[in-house]
Amino acid sequence: MKKEEIGHHFLARLGITRLRLGGKVATDWLMANGDFRRGKKVLEVACNTGITAIDIAKQFECQVIGIDIDEEALEKARQNIRDSEIEHLVSVQQAEATRLPFEDNSFDIVINEAMLTMLSPEAKEQAIREYLRVLKPNGFLLTHDVLLNSDNGDEITEKLRDAIGVSVTPLSKEGWKETFQQGGFRNVETFTGEMSLLSPKGMIFDDGVLGAVKIVGNALKAENREAAKKMFNIFNDPQNHLGFIAVCSQK
Ligand SMILES: C[S@@+](CC[C@H](N)C(=O)[O-])C[C@H]1O[C@@H](n2cnc3c(N)ncnc32)[C@H](O)[C@@H]1O
Repeated sequence: MKKEEIGHHFLARLGITRLRLGGKVATDWLMANGDFRRGKKVLEVACNTGITAIDIAKQFECQVIGIDIDEEALEKARQNIRDSEIEHLVSVQQAEATRLPFEDNSFDIVINEAMLTMLSPEAKEQAIREYLRVLKPNGFLLTHDVLLNSDNGDEITEKLRDAIGVSVTPLSKEGWKETFQQGGFRNVETFTGEMSLLSPKGMIFDDGVLGAVKIVGNALKAENREAAKKMFNIFNDPQNHLGFIAVCSQK
């Protein structure tokens, strides 16, 4: 990993297209619970290169707006949207999750994968307040994050921070539930499981055999090997101290 390069940029450089902790299995659970239907207005926070936003629009004919702070990722998203000929349904713009540039009650669904863990507790609360504000009454919030399964949380969190170069704050299942409940959401349902982002099975399932081979090949290159080893070790910990949690809650 180049000095100062943060984890998701490094993983994208290895060839990982989506940085979801629980992979497609977790996203599919969110899709099944979010009441996606034709004509619904969806906000994807942290859309990165737009792959999920495009999928949602294609699958359900929803109107999707994606936001992210990373202008470079958004440029790729715009290209992906054009390549998919889906400009009539998907658009992206630069914005900060804690200060959304949208009116109150404007979306049916807010989806936010692999981002809240990256925020401090205060910023998490502020982002969740924003999601509540922009959702219509009864609207769904769908999130997907790192689950902390350990009593030794501080040590594991420190290892994760060191591996990905971001001051992340993963939470336990109860911690995540309380965060959404205290943020004003109801019907908070969770789905948890093993982290699959860098597991052989997860990579093959999400990126196909060729994609997985390419990722491993890139990880083995001399300039990537050390950083990749740290990440593979923490994400594939045999004791499963870290997992994924998908959460569906309602305004
Ligand atoms: C780990 S990536 C996940 C991307 C995508 N959701 C996925 O699952 O593949 C985290 C993304 O969150 C974005 N991000 C981080 N903090 C943000 C914030 N405060 N507001 C909006 N986007 C943010 C980053 O730019 C990056 O694209």
